[in-house]
Amino acid sequence: MASNEPGTDAPPPPPDASSQIREAILLGVVGLVAVGGLLWWTAREPEPEASELRGATSAHPAGFTRADFVGDDACADCHPSIAVYHERNGHSRTFRPAADRALAQQLDGREVVDFERPGVTWSFLLEDDRFAVERRQGDRVDRLPIDYAFGSGYHATTFLSVLDDDPRDFTLREHRLTSYADGSVRITPGQGMDEPSPGTDALGRILTGEDAFDCIKCHVTLTSMTDPDTVDVHSMIPTVSCERCHGPGRAHVEAARRGDHPDDLAMPFGPGRYSANDQMLLCGACHRHPSQAPVAALRPGNSELARFQPVGLMQSACYIESNGALSCTTCHDAHDRPSRDASSYTATCLSCHKPSHPSQTPCPVSPSQDCTSCHMPRVDAGQGIRFADHWIRVRDDTEVEPPGDASRPH
Ligand code: HEC
Ligand code: HEC
Ligand code: HEC
Ligand code: HEC
Ligand code: HEC
Ligand code: HEC
Ligand code: HEC
Repeated sequence: MASNEPGTDAPPPPPDASSQIREAILLGVVGLVAVGGLLWWTAREPEPEASELRGATSAHPAGFTRADFVGDDACADCHPSIAVYHERNGHSRTFRPAADRALAQQLDGREVVDFERPGVTWSFLLEDDRFAVERRQGDRVDRLPIDYAFGSGYHATTFLSVLDDDPRDFTLREHRLTSYADGSVRITPGQGMDEPSPGTDALGRILTGEDAFDCIKCHVTLTSMTDPDTVDVHSMIPTVSCERCHGPGRAHVEAARRGDHPDDLAMPFGPGRYSANDQMLLCGACHRHPSQAPVAALRPGNSELARFQPVGLMQSACYIESNGALSCTTCHDAHDRPSRDASSYTATCLSCHKPSHPSQTPCPVSPSQDCTSCHMPRVDAGQGIRFADHWIRVRDDTEVEPPGDASRPH
């Protein structure tokens, strides 16, 4: 078995050099040196190097103003099919006013008992386009408005209220109850009595300062027009929009409308102009990057890593030893929901692991079928939410530790 230490071994010849080069050209990563994981490992924050990444790895790119952002609708005019994919992807649904959601209608009138606090019940209500929850304990009733629904609900939706919208004193309440994809309404991760995060009380968790900022930053495109280190709900751009990944679009749209040559239509972050490592930085800014993780957490048994795809993928021999030919978009369309068709992933595995290739050892167990079920199984990363483990490897199932609460993601 190959070493899982990144950057320690010189890469052996790739499985099939010519097909890898073709693939590399398709991916646009040819000519870029594969930087060992070690370089980023030692950096505390992902540090964008390539100039294209300006604006892409941070929620608030330097040198741009709010007016440079034109919004997803403007992109849809000329990229209609990408817009349709993006619209159903979690990225475009991850931060919305709570009352606008069908979920608010579904929960209206629903009563939930507080499993940890006998005698306490919660009920949701939607009145005059305002969504709220009431907590009842004996004669006491607390009514808490719900401003935002966080998370598409593909896994879960957590409710937030803005208690102070002054950017300097921005204060949030993360509600005690979260709606999970299985239809249950349960305690929000990190608020259980066994693992209460700082600020947790009977009504939820109060977030101020950096904590409130952090909660927002990965679910939006821009936290504030005026001060990049604050949240301003009046000038923020919610959800992970086209321009969160590609950078502000005004200049591109104006050039396209003028009919400029396609060569002059480059976006700050566009296909063909970045390496696999750059992509790890882009996606890893939110899906987490190994440079943000304590080294001790990067071990095969840590099931919580399953939630952090770039962290897992970058430990895989596939990533380390394929000279920059493997990135998220080898398996996923960055715009669409992840495919649920296992055979599509098998085809990708086999594009490198060709059973017929003389220099490749085919899988001794299953040379041509069903790769992900054994090498990328779903793992409980906490709260019963199961993620496909992106640390592709030969697994010893006895190694899996049950998820704890120490490295809670949020
Ligand atoms: C008026 C039409 C028009 C609009 C509006 C438009 N585009 Fe484009 N876009 C084009 C054309 C034409 C190209 C070049 C041919 C192609 O790749 O489809 C292009 C190419 C691109 C590329 C690949 C270019 C590169 O190398 O970076 C990206 C990424 C892109 N557009 C994103 C966007 C985003 C994001 C928006 C919204 C902010 C947007 N476009 C709005 C017409 C448009
Ligand atoms: C600004 C932060 C951010 C960036 C950058 C980002 N993501 Fe995400 N991504 C999220 C969030 C938040 C979700 C959860 C959205 C939800 O379902 O509420 C998500 C969800 C996803 C999903 C699941 C979508 C679904 O519909 O189930 C995929 C796949 C994904 N991201 C891939 C990527 C890839 C690949 C990149 C880089 C090209 C990337 N993401 C960049 C924040 C980000
Ligand atoms: C470092 C980036 C980051 C921060 C900070 C962050 N999130 Fe997320 N969040 C993500 C990504 C990436 C996903 C998608 C993968 C996953 O579910 O873990 C996600 C998923 C979610 C989901 C599930 C969405 C779904 O249905 O798939 C919820 C709910 C959520 N986040 C709420 C929060 C809340 C509340 C906070 C603040 C207390 C927060 N997040 C802070 C990056 C972040
Ligand atoms: C999560 C990050 C992310 C978001 C959000 C996103 N893109 Fe992309 N987009 C990418 C990546 C990464 C590529 C390059 C794919 C590759 O290299 O194969 C890309 C490629 C493109 C291209 C080049 C043609 C293609 O299909 O590869 C266009 C055009 C484009 N995006 C437009 C858009 C538009 C329009 C939106 C919003 C509706 C959008 N993107 C949202 C990450 C994103
Ligand atoms: C871009 C090419 C590429 C893709 C795509 C790819 N791999 Fe790999 N993989 C490699 C390389 C290179 C190695 C290291 C040399 C070797 O073991 O063949 C490797 C190693 C492995 C190993 C041995 C791991 C270890 O720690 O020894 C397994 C198992 C594996 N891959 C499974 C998969 C599966 C399953 C998929 C699809 C989900 C996949 N690979 C996709 C290139 C790739
Ligand atoms: C070798 C193929 C492969 C690569 C590379 C890959 N993924 Fe995945 N990804 C998968 C598979 C398989 C699934 C599970 C699909 C399903 O639901 O059946 C998945 C699912 C996901 C999900 C949905 C959460 C879940 O577990 O259901 C997210 C988010 C995601 N991937 C993000 C990423 C990001 C970010 C990258 C780059 C760091 C990446 N993926 C690279 C194969 C891959
Ligand atoms: C039923 C579970 C299962 C399936 C399905 C499966 N594998 Fe494996 N794979 C294993 C096990 C177990 C090993 C370790 C075998 C050993 O060491 O004797 C392994 C080993 C490997 C290795 C390392 C080979 C070596 O000698 O270095 C690669 C590469 C690999 N698998 C790729 C794949 C690919 C690609 C697929 C899909 C075509 C796949 N596997 C499907 C269980 C599976």
